[in-house]
Amino acid sequence: MTRHTFSKFSLLFRMSTFKVDPDISQAKTLSTEFYLSPEILDKSREKIFANTWQFIGDSDMVKDKGWVTPVNLLEHYIDEPLLLTKDDNDKLHCLSNVCTHRGNLLVEKPCKLNDIRCRYHGRRFGLDGQFRSMPEFKEVKNFPSDADNLVNLPIHQWGKWLFTSLSPGFEANEIFGDMSRRLSWLPLNEFNFRPDLSRDYLIDANWALYCENYLEGFHIPFVHAGLNAVIDYGNYTTELYRYSSLQLGLAKDDDDFIFELPSSSPDAGKRVAGYYFWVFPNLMFNFYPWGASINVVKPLSPARTKVSFLSYVWDESKLRQGAGANLHQVEMEDEDIVQNVQRGIRSRFYQHGRYSVKRETGTHHFHQLLAEFINK
Ligand code: FES
Ligand SMILES: [Fe+2]
Repeated sequence: MTRHTFSKFSLLFRMSTFKVDPDISQAKTLSTEFYLSPEILDKSREKIFANTWQFIGDSDMVKDKGWVTPVNLLEHYIDEPLLLTKDDNDKLHCLSNVCTHRGNLLVEKPCKLNDIRCRYHGRRFGLDGQFRSMPEFKEVKNFPSDADNLVNLPIHQWGKWLFTSLSPGFEANEIFGDMSRRLSWLPLNEFNFRPDLSRDYLIDANWALYCENYLEGFHIPFVHAGLNAVIDYGNYTTELYRYSSLQLGLAKDDDDFIFELPSSSPDAGKRVAGYYFWVFPNLMFNFYPWGASINVVKPLSPARTKVSFLSYVWDESKLRQGAGANLHQVEMEDEDIVQNVQRGIRSRFYQHGRYSVKRETGTHHFHQLLAEFINK
């Protein structure tokens, strides 16, 4: 960090309560301290990320009875070792992957098991996380107790997709309910993960800058010429929910790459090119006629972020068409502008901006949630 940035930053740090006026016409954007301070990123780990719902994979990762798959939740940030399992009763579990004896990591790669056996001193657990046996422990008093079982975390399932929370501050339905109702006609169980169409991007910017850019379509005509050619910018809308939002991209009249919506859809009759759902704090669910692109935004440091793009294909024949045709090109354009903003907000002359009342409601909503959670 340069001396220049440090002096701005240390001055700001003394005054750090984040405020975002609920009236967007009066509001100023979030203080730049949020994106620059290592302390705020540390604080966000517990106050924002541990209390919300995180994506942990899909049910195909533990398709049959006996399958177990380790998942490191937000590697290099939360870094919590978890284990997805499917037990003998076909029930899914999300367990701590840490042995309750001396803390060894239990399962290192996906495999099929009858029970989980720690390779350090042989403690065994059922696939539901219950303690089963331990050699050389006959003399130990008050053993086993509940503390010897593996911690069991809640699972929320939407289609094949699985989510958990380390310490849920609210019910999963409060964030996923609006999305799943809106798209209840989509056969999500027919969506298949495609590793060949999935990849990670590394970005030199704060995770929240990446999200807030996603949350407004205002920049589409300026930054995304290709996307702007197929999206009807005049009719681009943002709908806000308590912990999520939806941007609805309609196709231009001469573009035919749209959803065939059934009459049961609340959007029947509209020419929808893409549904862009965002879930607080860091998940994006982009639905196109070919399927879904899930983006998981993973903080690494105040100015470094990994974004995993996971593609789930439903109708292969519609790939490479319409709003979801060239996600890589759109991503390059977003990365370029967001990295520029990260450099800009370090300036001693910039601390806040203002919002467009018509075009930046999604970003304003996000900033309010960040302020609400970080000030808790
Ligand atoms: S650490 Fe697992 S049995 Fe000892
Ligand atoms: Fe963009």
